Amino acid sequence: MISQNLVKRLREAHKIVVMTGAGVSAESGVPTFRDAQTGLWAKYDPTELASPEAFARQPKLVWDWYKWRYGLVTAVSPNPAHYALAEMAHLVPHFTLITQNIDNLHQIAGSEGVIELHGNIRRTKCSAKGHIFPGWPDDTAVQPPLCAVCGSPMRPDVVWFGESLPRHELEAATTATLQADVFFSVGTSSQVYPAAALTVEAIKKGATVIEINPHPTPLTPHVTFSLAAPAGEVLPQLLAEVWERAAVATA
Ligand code: OAD
Repeated sequence: MISQNLVKRLREAHKIVVMTGAGVSAESGVPTFRDAQTGLWAKYDPTELASPEAFARQPKLVWDWYKWRYGLVTAVSPNPAHYALAEMAHLVPHFTLITQNIDNLHQIAGSEGVIELHGNIRRTKCSAKGHIFPGWPDDTAVQPPLCAVCGSPMRPDVVWFGESLPRHELEAATTATLQADVFFSVGTSSQVYPAAALTVEAIKKGATVIEINPHPTPLTPHVTFSLAAPAGEVLPQLLAEVWERAAVATA
């Protein structure tokens, strides 16, 4: 699975950028975005619930759906993929982690400076002025709760369909991608833009692009290395093969 050519490229890497999607949290038990919804929410299409229109129409339903998802992600732990990426940051000269995930598992695993393209479900914000609040105000009489500053209904601090990505985060992710000599795409179906455009940019500029995904994506034919395996297995192998074994060799 891990060729000597890949090992060599990674040992020589100066600036590594990693972009993750829901697949990196799959082995933690968080359903990927395009997994079938389970239980109570099976009858809802996520793309319908995760939108400003849905929130305007049925604020309590959308609030309850995200509260259910918040419960899911606060009940699980990071998996070896998250920990391997947190460790990789200490093994290379320059490392940037970009995520489409809103589950905060990278941060819990120890990653710092994570660029959150789609926000973070651990934070809420008011729907009118964007006043941010850490955590979820619970057991309030009114659902969704009202902003303590401006009184507008609260919502999760995540990007909804039809909304633009946070400008600062997208700029930072794009800048890092254009400077990367190695770009990892881990656990994403590469179907949602502009996040997927980062991988396309890395390919276009000739970076070494490594895709980690058990299933093919539209970008698989264009990447430099395709590792068709679960991230929780292959990322720890990469660390051992490329860095820790190297450390042993030079010890
Ligand atoms: P998807 O559900 O579209 O894709 C998850 C990918 O992870 C799939 O390609 C799976 O094959 C792969 N996968 C599953 N298990 C894996 C594992 N153990 N290791 C590695 N890969 C694995 O989720 P995303 O690509 O993240 O946007 O979706 C991108 C965005 O689409 C989400 O952030 C969300 C959604 O619209 C917003 O909410 C704005």
